[in-house]
Amino acid sequence: MAIVKITEILTGNCTDQKVTVRGWVYRKREGKELIFIVIRDSTGIIQSTIKKANPNWTEAQKLTIESSIELEGTVKEDKRAPGGFEIGTESINIIGLAEVFPISKDKSEEFIRDMRHLWLRSRKMNLIMKVRAEILEASREYFKKQNYTEVSPPMFISAAVEGGSTLFGLKYFDQDLYLTQSSQLYLEILIYSLQNVYCIAPSFRAEKSRTIRHLTEYWHIEAEWPFANMNDLINFEEGLMTHVCQTIAQKCVTEFKELGADIEKLKAVKPPFPRITYKEAIDWLKQKNPSLTLGSDLGYEDEKVLAEKFNKPFFVYDYPTAIKAFYCKTYTDHPEIAMSADMMVPRIGEISTGGAREDNKELLIQRMKEQDLKPEDYEWYLDLRRYGSVPHVGFGMGLERLLIWMLDLDNIIDAIPFPRTTRRFYP
Ligand code: 4AD
Ligand code: MG
Repeated sequence: MAIVKITEILTGNCTDQKVTVRGWVYRKREGKELIFIVIRDSTGIIQSTIKKANPNWTEAQKLTIESSIELEGTVKEDKRAPGGFEIGTESINIIGLAEVFPISKDKSEEFIRDMRHLWLRSRKMNLIMKVRAEILEASREYFKKQNYTEVSPPMFISAAVEGGSTLFGLKYFDQDLYLTQSSQLYLEILIYSLQNVYCIAPSFRAEKSRTIRHLTEYWHIEAEWPFANMNDLINFEEGLMTHVCQTIAQKCVTEFKELGADIEKLKAVKPPFPRITYKEAIDWLKQKNPSLTLGSDLGYEDEKVLAEKFNKPFFVYDYPTAIKAFYCKTYTDHPEIAMSADMMVPRIGEISTGGAREDNKELLIQRMKEQDLKPEDYEWYLDLRRYGSVPHVGFGMGLERLLIWMLDLDNIIDAIPFPRTTRRFYP
């Protein structure tokens, strides 16, 4: 007999047919003459009933929440059942009888978070992870369409990318190494061979701030390409964001509905996005927060206020050189301004940073020295400017930040299966 996925039954394709489903007991309610068993598999949940006269009645009585089972029966349309279909059970095979499941409705959020390995079975996490997977697929689809090659950079690295304060150090045999904060510098190497490259990989930040948008390990969608300028960069990011939002709006209707997330905001994402300079942003924000001055970095609160003004994705560009990383290219006539752009979204603020990279070796060395970095630690990076240097741009987008914006999630820890924060590293 055909083993079917629950979603298949719910679409009405199996009505009046005999099916076998494999999954876990989601709920159970026992009456005198009838036991209701709700089963879940990776695709959905469905109710089944078993009658007292059935020889499997005692097996059904034994069933506990989260037991794994194989259930055989006939599908009936039933308006009263959740999802509109029900299985009239003929036989039940208990595969793994569960002990008393620790997660129940009355448990606190904190308890549930500590039970991550079990909570991942919840409908909520199941749906979030599906949307996450769709974002990854849609991103790859866009990169492929634009002729970008996916590459695999290292996670063990020997020199900082984004400054020492958020760098995780580790012992690598008898050497001191770090976990990468961004794959950017390695993508910069690869553009000399493959030109347009991207990667989707973890980045690590020793980030002590406990906010709804910070993890210590997150997934980073990064791209880099040569013979390009700031306009090319922003256009590309706009294209990627639009493609991902439109694809998700089309493919994840059920997930959004069940999670209660607003899908309309994704449909509204279309180029061109508003673009404002850092200076314009500060001038506007000063009305609300007089302590801000030209030169200050934008904090989470400032970005949120700014994002309310636009109420959709937008860019802030031309930041002060002083608050940007050593690799940022600056304007020849305005070395105090860096060619750097952040994409921001409502409620979350920054979700990507990108920019043009300094391609002049002397200027790069000067910028390293200004930031107390040792040029000798970056010899290989300087080689890229020695041998066929080229103007190039790139960006990095935080996957989990994108996801919490899309799904209106309260906290970034729900956007990744196994969140890592200052306090969380179990399991
Ligand atoms: O702004 P960041 O630090 O920029 C870079 O790392 C560049 N090297 C990227 C590049 O040009 N290739 O990080 C980029 C993005 C942020 O905009 C944010 O979305 C995400 O990475 N991010 C974090 N996400 C979760 N938790 C954290 N602690 C994050 N730090 C950065
Ligand atoms: Mg940034």
